Amino acid sequence: MFYRFSALAVFMFFAGNMFPLPALAAQVASSPPAVAQQQTPQEYNCINCHTAIEDERLTPPVAEWQESAHAQAGVKCADCHGGDPFNEELAMDPSAGYIGKPKPADIPGLCAKCHSDAKKMRLHNLRTDQFSLYSDSVHGRKALAGDEGAPTCISCHGKHKILKVKDPNSLVARKNIPDTCGSCHSKKEIFEKRGRKFDQLEMYKKSRHHELFAKGDLLAPTCLECHGNHGIMPVSAERTQTVCFTCHTRQAEYYKASKHWTAWQKNGEPVCRHCHSNHDVARPTPAKFTGEGDNDCSGCHDEKSPQYIKGKEMQQVVVSSVQAVESASKALDEFEKSAHGGFEMGEIREKMDKAGEGLKELHTLTHKMDVEALKKQSEGLLQVSRMVSDNVTKMRAEVKVRWIALIVAWTVFIAFMAALWLKSKQVDRSREK
Ligand code: HEC
Ligand code: HEC
Ligand code: HEC
Ligand code: HEC
Ligand code: HEC
Ligand code: HEC
Ligand code: HEC
Ligand code: HEC
Ligand code: HEC
Repeated sequence: MFYRFSALAVFMFFAGNMFPLPALAAQVASSPPAVAQQQTPQEYNCINCHTAIEDERLTPPVAEWQESAHAQAGVKCADCHGGDPFNEELAMDPSAGYIGKPKPADIPGLCAKCHSDAKKMRLHNLRTDQFSLYSDSVHGRKALAGDEGAPTCISCHGKHKILKVKDPNSLVARKNIPDTCGSCHSKKEIFEKRGRKFDQLEMYKKSRHHELFAKGDLLAPTCLECHGNHGIMPVSAERTQTVCFTCHTRQAEYYKASKHWTAWQKNGEPVCRHCHSNHDVARPTPAKFTGEGDNDCSGCHDEKSPQYIKGKEMQQVVVSSVQAVESASKALDEFEKSAHGGFEMGEIREKMDKAGEGLKELHTLTHKMDVEALKKQSEGLLQVSRMVSDNVTKMRAEVKVRWIALIVAWTVFIAFMAALWLKSKQVDRSREK
């Protein structure tokens, strides 16, 4: 009971904090009720004067802000910087609340003034948990303590050109996520002195996940689906270690039925990433069972150990099943392609397709580390493959018989026609005489 409850709690925590589902849904759903674009009054001095200054630091914020979601919603210079926009004297006077350029550690609090205010945000249909999640995250804890390498809100959202999440040019639009996170997590200057890696973007770009992401597959993970957005936790957190379970449920189910899961709960090894890596996740093959990488079985099990030997047995079962299914499938495809009519293929095709599914299941089942279960699954596949191969051989033989019959029939027919022709010649000749 407790387990169930905690699993639910973990899921809720996950879904709420980490999985950016609501935002994704918001991206997919039609736009929220339009908020009338607010006019900026002519006499808004911050804009007038800063536009006129022509300074490479002081002027650009105006144009950048003009493109932002804030400008559209009527959030103007003084709403963030304070000061009196309608009185040139007091425009940048602390007595009018002017704060100037905020220090990095003060920025999250500044943004939270509105973004944690439920009354203000309700109108815009925006959630209000960004600051609370952020201030508990690895990023927030460091940045708020004055670590200038750690991101504040503007590191991920931009300085003045802050766009809506669903705007494709937003730094946090799905397609830009790897580069936005990678803009720091690839920098030697930030991470070397901390003794941390900075290869995550490079590694992710080599992965099967990125390959699918680049094709626009919405099911493939970016940094966010595995780490979250505002509430990023240290990587030692259980939720980072088991994040793969959320999408790969079948593999997780078998993995949890194996000794590896109990070992992980005790000693933190091995979980998915120990065998597949986390960022450069590649397409696995049965070669993993006997490979020599740290991610392969030999990385933890001595080659003479019973565990390794079990792995080798599993490899044999998988390889022989793959060979049997593939050769049967190839034979069937070739037979079908050469398009011989007169054979009922429906049933045999259906069996072959099922075997294809069964083979996928076999690969997944390897995670149970149970040789007997694997052999049982494999037996069914070998049987179907044998049946298909036998049937194709029989049909081929039948085709041969049909050809011979056809050739015989034609030979007889041609001979008959020739005889007929000769006969008619004879008749003609005898008439001429
Ligand atoms: C009459 C011209 C003028 C007006 C009006 C004006 N500014 Fe400025 N602003 C400047 C100049 C000049 C500087 C650079 C010198 C300085 O920091 O005092 C500046 C600097 C700034 C800076 C950068 C401060 C820093 O520490 O780097 C911010 C932020 C700023 N202004 C915001 C505002 C806001 C908000 C308003 C409206 C409430 C405003 N300004 C109105 C001329 C103006
Ligand atoms: C949503 C809040 C927000 C709004 C609206 C906003 N700013 Fe800023 N502004 C900031 C923050 C945060 C920084 C600090 C950026 C940094 O640390 O690099 C900043 C920095 C600046 C700077 C210093 C730039 C630099 O590179 O040193 C100027 C000048 C400035 N803002 C002017 C303006 C003007 C003019 C407007 C209105 C057109 C405006 N800001 C609107 C939040 C805002
Ligand atoms: C490490 C990068 C990062 C930091 C730091 C960050 N954000 Fe975000 N933020 C994102 C991403 C990514 C999204 C888009 C979420 C998605 O696609 O699910 C987002 C979305 C948002 C949204 C849209 C509503 C929502 O929650 O989805 C708001 C508002 C927002 N952030 C405000 C803030 C504020 C305020 C801060 C600082 C307290 C902040 N963000 C800090 C990355 C960041
Ligand atoms: C004065 C109030 C206010 C402040 C301060 C403020 N915002 Fe906003 N922000 C808004 C409002 C209002 C919107 C709604 C725009 C809309 O949805 O049309 C918004 C929208 C956004 C969005 C787009 C959300 C979406 O619809 O996808 C982001 C991201 C964002 N703000 C980030 C920030 C960051 C980062 C800061 C601090 C630098 C900040 N905001 C400061 C009021 C504020
Ligand atoms: C498929 C899930 C997944 C994706 C996608 C992913 N990560 Fe990770 N990441 C992990 C896991 C799991 C760990 C924990 C590794 C460990 O404990 O050693 C991790 C570790 C990290 C670390 C800690 C240092 C390290 O390398 O161990 C950083 C920083 C990081 N990821 C950033 C990123 C960034 C940036 C992206 C996007 C470019 C990204 N991750 C994409 C799962 C993922
Ligand atoms: C402004 C630079 C910057 C940006 C942008 C940034 N990060 Fe980070 N990130 C850091 C720093 C600095 C740390 C803390 C490293 C340390 O422990 O000292 C960190 C820590 C992390 C960690 C924890 C690593 C660990 O060892 O526990 C993860 C995971 C992570 N970031 C993922 C992301 C993701 C995902 C994004 C994009 C949504 C992102 N970061 C954007 C600078 C950044
Ligand atoms: C947001 C969902 C999601 C998360 C989280 C996720 N994956 Fe994936 N993963 C996918 C999708 C979708 C595919 C493509 C499946 C396919 O091609 O059949 C995939 C493919 C893979 C593949 C290649 C399978 C193949 O046959 O090509 C491996 C291995 C893999 N993921 C391992 C992991 C690991 C390890 C983690 C955790 C560190 C993880 N995944 C986290 C969605 C996810
Ligand atoms: C990161 C380390 C690690 C990797 C990699 C690893 N294992 Fe294990 N394995 C363990 C641990 C720890 C245990 C539990 C203690 C034990 O039985 O040695 C275990 C247990 C097993 C068992 C259960 C033994 C029993 O008593 O039933 C089998 C079988 C096994 N591993 C096979 C494999 C195979 C096959 C691979 C490669 C696909 C593999 N392991 C990769 C760490 C690892
Ligand atoms: C002990 C090592 C090990 C662990 C732990 C492990 N895998 Fe695997 N995984 C493998 C091997 C070996 C293969 C290749 C099996 C094959 O070719 O039949 C594989 C294949 C896969 C595949 C592709 C085949 C399929 O099932 O679709 C995916 C996806 C996958 N693993 C995901 C995961 C996920 C998610 C986890 C964590 C729940 C995980 N793996 C844990 C060793 C491991």
